[in-house]
Amino acid sequence: MTFLSDTEAIGRDLPRRDGAAKVLGSATYAFETPLDGAVHLHPVQSTIARGRVTELDTTAAEALDGVLAVLTPGTAERLASTDDRELAALQDEEVGFRGQIVAAVIADSSEVARHAAALVRVGYEQAAHETELRADRDDLYTPESVNPDFPSDTAEGDVDAAMAAAEVTVDETYTTAMYHNNPMEPHATTALWDPDGDGFLTLWDSTQGVHPTRTTIASVFGLDEDRVRVVCPYVGGGFGSKGQPHVHVVLAALAARALPGRPVRLALTRQQMFSLAGHRTPTIQRCRLGADKAGTITALAVDVVERTSRIKEFAEQTGLPARTMYASPNRRTTHRLAALDVPVPSWMRAPGECPGMFGPEVVMDELAERLGMDPIELRIRNEPDVEPGSGKPFSSRNLVGCLREGASRFGWSERDPRPGVRRRGDWLVGTGVASSTYPVNRMAQSTATIRLEGDCYVTEIGAADLGTGTWTTLPQIAADALGVPVSRVEVRIGDTDLPMASVAGGSSGTTTWGSAVVEAARAFRARYGTEPPDGAEATGSVGDPDQKYAKHAYGAQFVEAHVNVDTGEVRVPRLLGVFAAGRIINPRTARSQFIGGMTMGLSMALHEDSVLDPRTGHVVNHDLAEYHITANADVDVVEAHWLTEHDPHVNAMGSKGIGEIGIVGTAAAVSNAVWHACGVRVRDLPVTLDKLL
Ligand code: MOS
Repeated sequence: MTFLSDTEAIGRDLPRRDGAAKVLGSATYAFETPLDGAVHLHPVQSTIARGRVTELDTTAAEALDGVLAVLTPGTAERLASTDDRELAALQDEEVGFRGQIVAAVIADSSEVARHAAALVRVGYEQAAHETELRADRDDLYTPESVNPDFPSDTAEGDVDAAMAAAEVTVDETYTTAMYHNNPMEPHATTALWDPDGDGFLTLWDSTQGVHPTRTTIASVFGLDEDRVRVVCPYVGGGFGSKGQPHVHVVLAALAARALPGRPVRLALTRQQMFSLAGHRTPTIQRCRLGADKAGTITALAVDVVERTSRIKEFAEQTGLPARTMYASPNRRTTHRLAALDVPVPSWMRAPGECPGMFGPEVVMDELAERLGMDPIELRIRNEPDVEPGSGKPFSSRNLVGCLREGASRFGWSERDPRPGVRRRGDWLVGTGVASSTYPVNRMAQSTATIRLEGDCYVTEIGAADLGTGTWTTLPQIAADALGVPVSRVEVRIGDTDLPMASVAGGSSGTTTWGSAVVEAARAFRARYGTEPPDGAEATGSVGDPDQKYAKHAYGAQFVEAHVNVDTGEVRVPRLLGVFAAGRIINPRTARSQFIGGMTMGLSMALHEDSVLDPRTGHVVNHDLAEYHITANADVDVVEAHWLTEHDPHVNAMGSKGIGEIGIVGTAAAVSNAVWHACGVRVRDLPVTLDKLL
């Protein structure tokens, strides 16, 4: 692979190309696509967690002025495939979780649809349900595949023997809560069936990937993919929950099928998003470390218990980061999955790595405490030479650089290691650190086309920009690959009429689509040289990734925490992250990603906690009034920095993904800083005041 070396546009702090349209309100989102004759859809949700619907009385709903139809399992069309039970909307009477869709109303306004939905009377035959994740219920565990390409368990050496022989050990259990992604723009779809011929379905859908959504929906409806178009130029956030279509997309298409030629709009309410749009499963992580007195780790084990839904398996890959972070001759990771009567979990920013670096990065702090060793020194001492497990060389690994740069910027060298001894007024003061990591993922397929239209190099690829910066960064990559000014490059994204693009997931977007754009530019230059004629066009696709190297981005998170001596309230005046994530395409959009991730990590540390009542299977705090997220009052300064990193092995741009790494390790750094402030170890997130008093 040739590396793009002399760059003009890459690395420039260019403003977002979609910024003005978003701020001025002219950017159209899925729900608000202007279309004539649009009607509205509102789901009816089950109020039991398990059982079956025995009665659906739609009389009152149908009698309401403005109601066009009520969809039920009795009236909705049969889907071609019901293999994915999350997506099998209204195909039978079974209820697998509270909040599942059992009927839906189509009306000429959203208000009437919602009112009518409340008038649908539902009778149930209730079955006993189980929603609580517990480490002692191994009767509930099912075999699983761990999301989806990794072994459930790994083992090297003999952890138990090494733990028994170790001079210093830590064996603690940590938990992370159930979380909901909560993008600002709700999950929304406008669906329209062309009434002619065999039918053609257009979906304006808020999604992280128009092509993957098309593939899934075409398969559910038994359509050729060329009979489905998915359009999504703008997304108001996703954080993974729009990475795969959820049931509302199928429901909107089903409803539109009943009214050919009429666009049907569905935007989930914030409350509905707590059961229909995915969530991050809670985890229980038993973390064990054994070391000699010099701090060399001899045993490392992470045993994870987590939850999925009974209707569809999704396994959070929580044990993954512990497999590759630190050296140890004896190591093991295990995952056990309890399939319970809960909504279907899914991707949420850094699935796996985010919860999976909480326990492991707090247990490192606990080991440092027992060794009387600086926690940064402990991490540096256990740097692996090659990737543990695979034995592959790292394409680049600058964790130590991040820790040292962060220590210097943060002022770590002054730190007194003793907990609970610094006080400023009514506040105890502490500092903490944790590592971050995220793999460099590249998806298998993406294609870009570049065409000269007049003065403009039009770059087309069905990519997504969920706020991450794609509108701005792809032109920078295209400009440098073509050797033209970035002002002469226009991109078109977010439409299946454009060349095929992979999902914006796993922080793989820029790596994957950027690689396709570079290939298209190279083909363009090879064919036309430096004087292309108007209309000149070339296409390129991503090649196979190089498998010789282990490829990861790294980071170090530093936190200053204050704990109020009377109330136990926590404030975080400083969050400072240093990342090594390859070449930064655009410092402005990159900084937003890092800071956004760190802020979401702070939110996880201090507030976020979806409270699922085991009696009803209901997430009781299902709105932003009660599902607390972090706010300005929690923090003073959030800083993100990065190292200059040249990695020629990752892709032609030398870039690594940055959408997710910012959230990884943040909560551990907060917990470690809180311990340093007040001497209390909080092993169960969130770090709320009741745990500190
Ligand atoms: Mo990200 S949670 O892989 O969209």
